[in-house]
Amino acid sequence: MKSIVIAITGASAIQLGERTIQLLLQNNKQVELILSKGAYEVSKSERNINIPVEPNAQSVFWRNRLKVESGKLNCYRWNDHSASIASGSHKTKGMVIVPCSMGTLGRIASGFSLDLIERCADVHLKENRTLIISPRESPFNLIHIENLKRLALAGALIVPPIPAWYTNPTSVDDIIDFIVVRLLDTLGEDLDNIKRWAGPKK
Ligand SMILES: Cc1cc2nc3c(=O)[nH]c(=O)nc-3n(C[C@H](O)[C@H](O)[C@H](O)COP(=O)(O)O)c2cc1C
Repeated sequence: MKSIVIAITGASAIQLGERTIQLLLQNNKQVELILSKGAYEVSKSERNINIPVEPNAQSVFWRNRLKVESGKLNCYRWNDHSASIASGSHKTKGMVIVPCSMGTLGRIASGFSLDLIERCADVHLKENRTLIISPRESPFNLIHIENLKRLALAGALIVPPIPAWYTNPTSVDDIIDFIVVRLLDTLGEDLDNIKRWAGPKK
């Protein structure tokens, strides 16, 4: 089974990344997880959660927090440039960056790979593999829009975390699930245990 690289960066709504890894692990997938330096800061500042940086400790942290024992989870430091996933010879099913900060977006768009997330994104583009980016900022300035366009032209799929209202969400969890399922649908993953909209209530 090919693994899926999930990257969480320092943008608002880290819950989206959390739910993505939870759903993948619940569905027995193999996840290679990278948090950017900014993600730890946003997690602390927005949610008062201290995520361990050390990979084994972080893996235990997620297993406990997400209450999931299935699947396979490997965590990486943001600056681990010698990780196997930093090379094109490590085959993956694809990569999802959720949420994606404008900083990470800009560095990927300019080919300026500083951390492991940017390097992996660069590898996915050069190897012509699926790269899904879920950018979180509002409003976008022209530079953000140009960077999104540049990445779309280079083959990335831009899937913004925009909720749907036709599903009549009644909780934040409903909104998160809609966004995350759209992301994983784009990746082509078949998932069990998810709620899908089945048309308007009659
Ligand atoms: C609480 C908080 C929320 C933030 N939300 C966003 C955001 O939604 N989008 C964004 O582009 N940057 C956001 N930032 C700024 C980024 O975290 C900052 O630019 C950081 O350098 C990004 O680093 P990274 O791209 O390596 O994760 C936020 C920062 C904080 C502290």
